[in-house]
Amino acid sequence: MTQRGRFITIEGVEGVGKSTSIEFIEETLRRHGIPAVATREPGGTPLGEKIRALLLDRGNTSMDEMTELLLMFAARVQHVRQLIEPALARGNWVISDRFTDSSYAYQGGGRGVDSGLIEQVEEISLGQFRPDLTIILDLPVEAGMARATNRGERDRFEAEDLAFFERVRATFMRLAADNDRYHIVDASGDIDAVQAALAPIVEAEISRAKGS
Ligand code: TYD
Repeated sequence: MTQRGRFITIEGVEGVGKSTSIEFIEETLRRHGIPAVATREPGGTPLGEKIRALLLDRGNTSMDEMTELLLMFAARVQHVRQLIEPALARGNWVISDRFTDSSYAYQGGGRGVDSGLIEQVEEISLGQFRPDLTIILDLPVEAGMARATNRGERDRFEAEDLAFFERVRATFMRLAADNDRYHIVDASGDIDAVQAALAPIVEAEISRAKGS
């Protein structure tokens, strides 16, 4: 029987280098002969990408924070059912650029939606489905924003102020303190330093998968 794949999520504020880290993780898995699928949120499916466009559009100035939360989860349900679950069942590992922890950090910490409400939406949407491993890339907010704004026009989230992103970052740190599925990686160093920190985390997950 095919062994179920593992679900890895990468989190952090804007500009922490999630994409480069995901490429490195994919490469590490490939070296071990493990098939991997990289995806992202909000998005990851054709319908999810349409929802993403609504969420990032700066023209949607009046979006209520509950609308925002539910759109994030609407895209996520589609993502899990259409892409993530089937891939895991086939034995692929799935690496997602953001997942539910971003909803706790941005809609909860950033916008102030009660975390108990987010838990309820998570339960209704996903039941007990959770990542196997979550890596939080951590960087002072100002450094991340400086990197992110170099990439061009700001989206609806990037237009928020530093205090918003400080709350987002603090929420990621709180989430990580509560559960050993999380690993915090210091993203302030150069690419080599970040990859040196990522490697043992990924290797340990591979060993765990082989042992199970
Ligand atoms: P992303 O493409 O990762 O942006 P970036 O590359 O700039 O980090 O994510 C788009 C935005 O969506 C990002 O600002 C975070 C936000 N977001 C939420 O607010 N809640 C969520 O649940 C998710 C998945 C993303």
